[in-house]
Amino acid sequence: MLKGLILAGGFATRLRPLSCSKPKLLFPIVGTPLIDRMTEWLSQGNIGRVILAVNHLSDKLRMEVAARQLGDRVVLSVEETPLGTGGPLKLAASLLDNSDPVVVVNGDVVTDIDLGALVRAHKAGGVEATIAVFSVGETKPFGLVTLDSDDRIVGFQEKSVKNRRRGWINAGVYILNQNVIEMIPSGRAVSLEREVFPVLADQRKLRGWRHTGFWYDVGTVQDYVAANMDLLKRRERSLREPKRGVPLALLEQPSYISGDCVVGTGAKLGPFTILSPKVKVENGASVRDSIVFESTVLGENCRIEGSVIGEATRIGRGAKIGKGSVVAGEVTVPDGEVLGPGSIVLN
Ligand code: GTP
Repeated sequence: MLKGLILAGGFATRLRPLSCSKPKLLFPIVGTPLIDRMTEWLSQGNIGRVILAVNHLSDKLRMEVAARQLGDRVVLSVEETPLGTGGPLKLAASLLDNSDPVVVVNGDVVTDIDLGALVRAHKAGGVEATIAVFSVGETKPFGLVTLDSDDRIVGFQEKSVKNRRRGWINAGVYILNQNVIEMIPSGRAVSLEREVFPVLADQRKLRGWRHTGFWYDVGTVQDYVAANMDLLKRRERSLREPKRGVPLALLEQPSYISGDCVVGTGAKLGPFTILSPKVKVENGASVRDSIVFESTVLGENCRIEGSVIGEATRIGRGAKIGKGSVVAGEVTVPDGEVLGPGSIVLN
């Protein structure tokens, strides 16, 4: 049986303040928590058992796994101190132990990589590890992977702000033979990218596998929003209407409203509005270009533009939230409050 390990123990500092109350793996992606997308993606790849390597907010993840009755498929491996991207594999070695290669994925990627095809390519490739690589443009600095004509990885170039180039990047999805886990030192944090892959590349035991579908890293608020909006445009999910309330004329597509949201009279939603489950939009509220996490209440006549609002938050009546704002989960924004563009509300 193939086993997978999701690296989900980082502190997600770049997603603060949203990540103060919610682990990255529970962030909604067009209304569906990342953990659900990931477990479905891994099961489509025929991965029978999944280890969640966790540490920050691990109790919340444990509760969510229990609530989903995933206990027989998903096991948590909890680090006392963060072990980086390699150490968690060593810690979970006894759970991963068998002759098959292991599928390792960063817990913050959203992609349609065909894991079955990746595993087959790895087995046919005669190397110790295979990294899925994805082609990026020049818009953002990324660390690049150098491939030879046979798709062996022969080197890595550090991320450089000055030197933005088109090229192939490490997509954070790996297939590793058991020998690679044996190479990882125990009892300390280890970086796969800096300490393990360069050694394998020097030994010509590392391949790249070019992915040409979609791939997003949702590690920053900006990238998280961009991924959601792009997926919304792709309309990969069916667009559902709210159960009651908002007349169609007041719902502008593309938008995604979870089926169990409640929307009051005269509320205006969209375009580019994503409401996670159990959001309540009171009468006359308007929301555009924004993502709202679950169980949040948007008070009467409030106005939200270009923002992300965390879970179980209350936006007061008549409040205004300006473009580019981020409101943490579990907070109350008072009635009538006006938050200028780019405001950050902490919890
Ligand atoms: P930032 O603090 O914003 O950089 O986010 P992060 O902590 O998640 O780090 P990064 O985005 O570089 O991590 C990539 C993936 O590896 C994420 O899915 C993290 O959860 C995971 N990760 C990073 N460090 C650790 C760790 O020490 N232990 C485990 N289990 N996972 C980790």
